[in-house]
Amino acid sequence: MTEVEGKIMNKGLLQKIKELKRKRNAIILAHNYQVGEVQDIADYLGDSLGLSIKAAQTKADVIVFCGVKFMAETASILSPERIVLMPDKNSGCPLADMADKNSLKSWKKRYPEATTVAYVNTTAEVKAESDICCTSANAESIVNSVDASQILFIPDKHLADWVAKKIPEKKIIPYPGYCSVHMKILAEDIIKLKEKYPEAEVIVHPECTFSVIKLADKVLSTGGMCKYAGKSKAKEFVVGTEVGILHRLKKENPEKIFYPANSSAVCADMKLITLEKIAASLSEMKYEVKVPEAIRKDAKRAVDKMLKVAR
Ligand code: 13P
Ligand code: SF4
Repeated sequence: MTEVEGKIMNKGLLQKIKELKRKRNAIILAHNYQVGEVQDIADYLGDSLGLSIKAAQTKADVIVFCGVKFMAETASILSPERIVLMPDKNSGCPLADMADKNSLKSWKKRYPEATTVAYVNTTAEVKAESDICCTSANAESIVNSVDASQILFIPDKHLADWVAKKIPEKKIIPYPGYCSVHMKILAEDIIKLKEKYPEAEVIVHPECTFSVIKLADKVLSTGGMCKYAGKSKAKEFVVGTEVGILHRLKKENPEKIFYPANSSAVCADMKLITLEKIAASLSEMKYEVKVPEAIRKDAKRAVDKMLKVAR
């Protein structure tokens, strides 16, 4: 297909999506790692925390969730009366899939005094077994808010490690999960880019390893990165997270330059969603994500607790 043919096709698809959205009274929520053209049509673009808040507040009948499964599940947990659709049902999060309900249950038995903090990148079942949730945007304040000296932090060991360094007075026991996309970003990548672009500020996601975090100027959620890049006086940034965020950073800050810390940090699951699949999702009302009521109630308790402490 030529570039011109591609543009004409996209125009037709965009029109179709617009009409279907009106017909279904739908809203499109998209994560900052989505491909550029999906980001561009979203009614709301954000990080896990912002997307959860939006899902809880919307009056739309249908939420088309352009992200990964745990995010769509969180929307369904918070908004059970809405229909939550995922344009691609295979868009999962390998990090979230590293922890299941049974391993959490046996882990809790080993540490009966501990409080469980579940990163939002978990299944609904794991959330239901946890005391409180957190996201990368609020992990530190959530852990600080917990009235316990021992905390089981599930499932990301790097985020757990970063929070533990910030709050040394609490004993944080990390579950051994990790995000393989963020682990592609190495300390050597940052060192090389700092040498090449000495004026650049280094912003990284807390799912990176501590050797990367140590070299950063700021450790931020994806939403935090977007806010920070806008207000910082720096003109150049080295960005240590999934590369999809560069589309938004460049679009919102055309006068600034953004370098990916490692251009192979690509989340394949996030890239499964396309304009064609969004149109099909709205047209055929697929693929619905619904959390069973018994799990949803308990999971909602943990998510609501988080939203009460730190929005
Ligand atoms: P954010 O909540 O910071 O957007 O992170 C979500 C995520 O999956 C990071 O890999
Ligand atoms: Fe999950 Fe990592 Fe992809 Fe984020 S980047 S959705 S943590 S696999």
